[in-house]
Amino acid sequence: MRMLGIETSCDETAASVVELGDDGAPRILSNVVLSQIEDHAAFGGVVPEIAARAHVETLDGVIEAALDEAGVPLGAVDGIAATAGPGLIGGLIVGFMTAKAVAAAAGKTLVPVNHLEGHALTARLTDGLDFPYLLLLVSGGHTQVVLVRGVGDYERWASTIDDALGEAFDKTAKLLGLPYPGGPNVERQAARGDPRRFSFPRPLRGDARLDFSFSGLKTAVRQAASAIAPLSDQDVADICAAFQLAITETLEERVGRSLTRFREAFPDLARPALVVAGGVAANKAIRAALEGLCERHGMNLVAPPLHLCTDNAAMIAWAGIERMRGGLVEDDAMGFAPRSRW
Ligand code: KG4
Ligand code: ZN
Repeated sequence: MRMLGIETSCDETAASVVELGDDGAPRILSNVVLSQIEDHAAFGGVVPEIAARAHVETLDGVIEAALDEAGVPLGAVDGIAATAGPGLIGGLIVGFMTAKAVAAAAGKTLVPVNHLEGHALTARLTDGLDFPYLLLLVSGGHTQVVLVRGVGDYERWASTIDDALGEAFDKTAKLLGLPYPGGPNVERQAARGDPRRFSFPRPLRGDARLDFSFSGLKTAVRQAASAIAPLSDQDVADICAAFQLAITETLEERVGRSLTRFREAFPDLARPALVVAGGVAANKAIRAALEGLCERHGMNLVAPPLHLCTDNAAMIAWAGIERMRGGLVEDDAMGFAPRSRW
């Protein structure tokens, strides 16, 4: 089975061909990702209208490149999987309508894919993970803990009650005058800062819910920064270090609760796993904290390679394969409309 995947929900224009071999092993034949970061950098964040226009301009070429690189003509794919939500509606419309048009013209099965399902199933593409497992999704738009029981069978255990984790990094970076995207820059600054100079809050610590909150942390950073303005390079580094420490300790405490619950719910799994996905998973301090946390809970941390953790179309193609082989493709897929808040 071969699937063409298309992803346009945020600021990456992406297409990929993934093949499921007769031996049951998946292979990524191509994975083309065109980032729009430079188009948005001057604005300090993603501008939806600019994103949608950029998708219009580049998507056809990106799809062609994905097919070329895979060495697979359009006629030789079995289906076309495209992100139909959640995300920025302009980009979703461009990607999903393109998928519809190509599917109609080439007589292929159309598979609408939820972007979060793409992230949730990636660990099965990269690590052949069996169900059930726990997913921690930490990106610019999402912060969730999800129990993944099967294809299409998810239970959300935790989400953020305000900012997403990547958003907290991006807003903190902006506040400190660091360029977009903020996460990598905050991490770089933190490496040369003193995390003990400032004491930032650990939001929701001790709260019995499993949820996250990050807006208070951002406010604390703003107050610390305005109290000593103008900021020296060392001030910026120290604030970043303290911020990152607050984040890692908060994640340990918050995610730890979900791990306890997972171990209680599934005491007999051969390979109990926490999968981490989303751009924030690139952060080395956060990864190290999660490694330690999993070890303490007798679990494995599964972190797919970074280029498959962040937004890409291979995960969408793979979700399409999982849906198609599971008989989970809607009959009226052609009538499906993209949903920004799916
Ligand atoms: O998954 P992703 O590429 O796109 C979506 O948001 O869907 O995630 C991007 C987010 C941004 O907020 C970015 O600042 C954050 O991931 N990020 C990081 C790091 N690299 C990227 N956050 C913290 N540390 C990093 N090294
Ligand atoms: Zn994403």
